Amino acid sequence: MSETVHKSVMPGEVLDLLTSRSGKVYIDGTLGGGGHTESLCRYSKDVRVIAFDRDIEAINRTEKRLRSVFAGTDPFPVRFVHADYRFFEDALDLLNIEKIDGFLLDLGLSSDQLADDSRGFSFDSAGNLDLRFDVSEGLSAAEMLARLPEKEISRILYEFGEERHSRTIARRIAECRRSGQPLQTARQLADLVRECVPKFWKTKGRSIDPATKTFQALRIAVNDELNALAETLRRLPNRLAQGGIAAVISFHSLEDRIVKNTFRDDPRWQPLTSKPVTASEAEVSRNPRSRSAKLRAALLV
Ligand SMILES: C[S@@+](CC[C@H](N)C(=O)[O-])C[C@H]1O[C@@H](n2cnc3c(N)ncnc32)[C@H](O)[C@@H]1O
Repeated sequence: MSETVHKSVMPGEVLDLLTSRSGKVYIDGTLGGGGHTESLCRYSKDVRVIAFDRDIEAINRTEKRLRSVFAGTDPFPVRFVHADYRFFEDALDLLNIEKIDGFLLDLGLSSDQLADDSRGFSFDSAGNLDLRFDVSEGLSAAEMLARLPEKEISRILYEFGEERHSRTIARRIAECRRSGQPLQTARQLADLVRECVPKFWKTKGRSIDPATKTFQALRIAVNDELNALAETLRRLPNRLAQGGIAAVISFHSLEDRIVKNTFRDDPRWQPLTSKPVTASEAEVSRNPRSRSAKLRAALLV
């Protein structure tokens, strides 16, 4: 299956920012369904994209799709790298590329991952509570919850999910463990959280499932997402050409804070967005996932 169900967020805004200086070599650190990579490659026949994803299924599916989209284009404009984007320097070394002109991150998970019940991203799936982008390494969320001390689980939920009921949820998880019934599926965890957290809560008129914060926090911890982002933004100036542009779309306040503070406080960056760019109403109604997206960009001085 080479089709993607993922709709790229703010594709026009991202392309405008990344191409506001002429460039040839870009990194897309989060390939997903390949929408942003595709629009960069369509923008100019001189563009080359080195595209990373930790998820081998995303790489395989999107490589197949883009090979068909750009069939007959010589040279083929995309290099696919199955790796964490934080290792971008290693990939550039291997490819003998000293500097790049632009770098894009579109953080979080894709709709393709959400739709795959075996990954555990969807709250009501009977699939294993995995939550890893790369299922070949590290601990799954179920393994993590089976091993970590209750206090540490509570800290993760509070810090990464801003979950006010973190202690109650962690206590219930530890009780399940002690009774010889550790959590195994996404649905089991979602049901447990719903028992601990009062009802559905509403934000801006929308009902939010009480399990949202817990799943987001665990996913961030399992994939070490905040460290990957912070490390990468710190090292990116080493390999971005002068005048090169970095653009980041985030969906979580902690991620956005890292991006905002780096672009504001590190004198090597000149912010191109004083406030984060957000999706238009028309986009949000077409693609509800874009509602919480924040896009920031900066130029390397
Ligand atoms: C929101 S999707 C990207 C969608 C893409 N921009 C598009 O237009 O289709 C995020 C993707 O990034 C991947 N990802 C998340 N963290 C990553 C990391 N540290 N390194 C590489 N890939 C990562 C996920 O596996 C997922 O496929």
